[in-house]
Amino acid sequence: MVRFILNDRLVQTSAPKGLVLLEFIRDVACLSGTKEACREGECGACTVLVGTRQPQGTISYKACASCLLPIGNVDGCHVVTVEGLSGEQLTLVQRLIVEHSASQCGFCTPGIALSLTGFALESPSLSYENALNALDGNICRCTGYVSIRNAANALCQQLARLDKAAPRTEALIAAGVVPEYFRAMPERLAKLDLEPETPAKDAVLVAGGTDLFVQKPEKLLESDLCFLSKREDLNYIREDGGFLRVGGAVTIEELRRSETAKKFFPALEWDFLLHSSAILRNRATLAGNIVNASPIGDASIILLALGARLQITAEDGKKREVPLDAFYLGYKKTVLSCGDLVTEIAIPLPKPGMRYNFEKVSNRKTLDIAAVNSALRLTLDKGGKVSGLRISAGGVGPVPLLLQGMEKFHGRKADAAMAKDLAKAACEAAKPIDDIRGSAEYKKLLLGQLMLAHFKALSISGDP
Ligand SMILES: Cc1cc2nc3c(=O)[nH]c(=O)nc-3n(C[C@H](O)[C@H](O)[C@H](O)COP(=O)(O)OP(=O)(O)OC[C@H]3O[C@@H](n4cnc5c(N)ncnc54)[C@H](O)[C@@H]3O)c2cc1C
Ligand code: FES
Ligand code: FES
Repeated sequence: MVRFILNDRLVQTSAPKGLVLLEFIRDVACLSGTKEACREGECGACTVLVGTRQPQGTISYKACASCLLPIGNVDGCHVVTVEGLSGEQLTLVQRLIVEHSASQCGFCTPGIALSLTGFALESPSLSYENALNALDGNICRCTGYVSIRNAANALCQQLARLDKAAPRTEALIAAGVVPEYFRAMPERLAKLDLEPETPAKDAVLVAGGTDLFVQKPEKLLESDLCFLSKREDLNYIREDGGFLRVGGAVTIEELRRSETAKKFFPALEWDFLLHSSAILRNRATLAGNIVNASPIGDASIILLALGARLQITAEDGKKREVPLDAFYLGYKKTVLSCGDLVTEIAIPLPKPGMRYNFEKVSNRKTLDIAAVNSALRLTLDKGGKVSGLRISAGGVGPVPLLLQGMEKFHGRKADAAMAKDLAKAACEAAKPIDDIRGSAEYKKLLLGQLMLAHFKALSISGDP
């Protein structure tokens, strides 16, 4: 039995836990405001808010693509659709969408209203930039983005007047952004009588589900599933013993926004903005990105260069540690055995003289997977000579690659001449194939150019 609150109504259902929320909302709850379009997380028409109870008793609301979200993942949560936003009157977000003519056919509009409401509820800073980032997964085909941006900008101006002393939800109720029934939600969620998870031995591990529910939604409807988002013990980001330790259920967006992560790796806040879109990053996990073993997985590429290690826990509870560069065995093959769980990703903290950069080339800036991506971690000694170099490359082989033989650059000055030699070495190491994202020749050239881009980003002239 799955229990959650849909808008202000309690839902108890024995529907399969793998049924996607979009289908439940439209076909079982008969709420048609949430739209179905791509069903692959690409358009944002199905965006809803998912509120999860936090240990301190508050609720954290995230905008999510409901087409890739199994209902088992919202057990114990508050789900908000467009029907749950307004009563007699439009909310502030909806009114601003109308006033700025930010809707024509309206198919995308519920998703946009929910993404902006999620931004108002959750964003640490209510800046216009963050409002636009919150909309990066919402595609509109007929209004034109200028009027949508104008509505977002007007929202930010109104939110600047919020009572900062009041809890955010209270201030947003007073400003007409969310309805009054949100106030009682922490208490109502606390009272939900949830069943303990007892997954079968061979249950499919579901993290965010953003990969699984694109690949095989029908099969998952029939399967036993184990929802990792319920494992509070896997939800942490902390510094310990020279590592940034990230639990196996942490989402990409949680890591992106983590103050602890920003302290050591400030660039990740921007680099992970290039991963999918807000409505997916709010569910997609770092571990899911690693385990799906895509040769162009952005997190895998970043973590390879940073020298990450995985803690893997077997079914019998035995733990082992595997460096990420030894994790991939071949196309979509990893060292994981049946029942193995990635419980932690440990990233060595930067040492003095260490610099890092990530580059991604894709057809669109956001919401697109890479043609080729690469990350570099360069360590310079006190004399400015190279003492360490790790470079990863995606899209140029069957697995996310760590380029070998980089020791030959140790002792060299990191300058334009080195960038040129590095570009040549990277081209030689790459073994891409022709595919929909480009020819093998193009991808080789691209990887070479990315070496120059790394040097340029780190203010080492890449122009030989
Ligand atoms: C529209 C769209 C855009 C995307 N854009 C990008 C992009 O820009 N960059 C990118 O890299 N990827 C992208 N992806 C791919 C995908 O979202 C990511 O790879 C994501 O990080 C997967 O994480 P998840 O938690 O959703 O994994 P899930 O789908 O839940 O799981 C993926 C696999 O990992 C296994 N698994 C998950 N967690 C664990 C664990 N802790 N231990 C053992 N096994 C585990 C699951 O059993 C499953 O086999 C995109 C996907 C979509 C649909
Ligand atoms: S229907 Fe397009 S993102 Fe869900
Ligand atoms: S208003 Fe038609 S798709 Fe956005």
